[in-house]
Amino acid sequence: MKSKYNSLLFKFFIHVTALVLIFNQYYLAITDQIGGDPVQAIIHFTGIGALNLLIITLCISPLAKYAKQSWLMKSRRLLGIYTFIYALCHILNFWAFEIQFNIALFITEVFERPYITLGLLSFIVLLVLTLTSLNKIQRKMGRKWQTLHNFVYLAVILAAIHFYWSSKSELIEPIIYICITLMLLMFRHKKFKRWLAQK
Ligand code: HEM
Repeated sequence: MKSKYNSLLFKFFIHVTALVLIFNQYYLAITDQIGGDPVQAIIHFTGIGALNLLIITLCISPLAKYAKQSWLMKSRRLLGIYTFIYALCHILNFWAFEIQFNIALFITEVFERPYITLGLLSFIVLLVLTLTSLNKIQRKMGRKWQTLHNFVYLAVILAAIHFYWSSKSELIEPIIYICITLMLLMFRHKKFKRWLAQK
């Protein structure tokens, strides 16, 4: 009973925090309270937001094990969905305000700028994981579902490198994110060893 209550409370917290932060950011941008370059500020906020949410999602499993709080595991899907929503806003902002919905220009950017290529690949993985996150689909896919959802590790690696390559001068922040990503992957070293042994 207590764990059900904790899980509901935590999910409520995730909804409120994710929604309030993003709506507040758009409100500040629309009312011109966000500095000289609102488009850049929004792209930054949604990009960092998506990466933070992805990293928090990946922290849940080691945290739940360490703190022996299994109810935390139930929040992973919700965090994953908000990761996708933030990433979608990030791309839509880029598409609308930086390249004015020009599909040809978008394709050129994907081929000419490696950081955009990685961002797109990371987004495609997030899209597939979100579309297959429903319980019904999970049941239908059986064991294949877990194999597919292991691609979340690829998504976070691609997103961290996308951040690093997108930075023109300030490299400390993206390097910190790459280190956090590597640490999260290290927590899973036993899992990766098992995969290699199976091959
Ligand atoms: C097609 C997909 C994507 C496109 C076109 C895109 C585009 C961009 C652009 C234009 C920037 C700003 C670069 C600059 O400072 O000039 C950026 C930064 C960033 N993106 Fe993406 N992105 C994509 C996918 C993603 C995804 C999936 C994530 C995370 C899961 C992500 C996370 C970030 C982060 C963390 C930054 C750095 C924010 C900053 O410091 O400005 N991006 N992206």
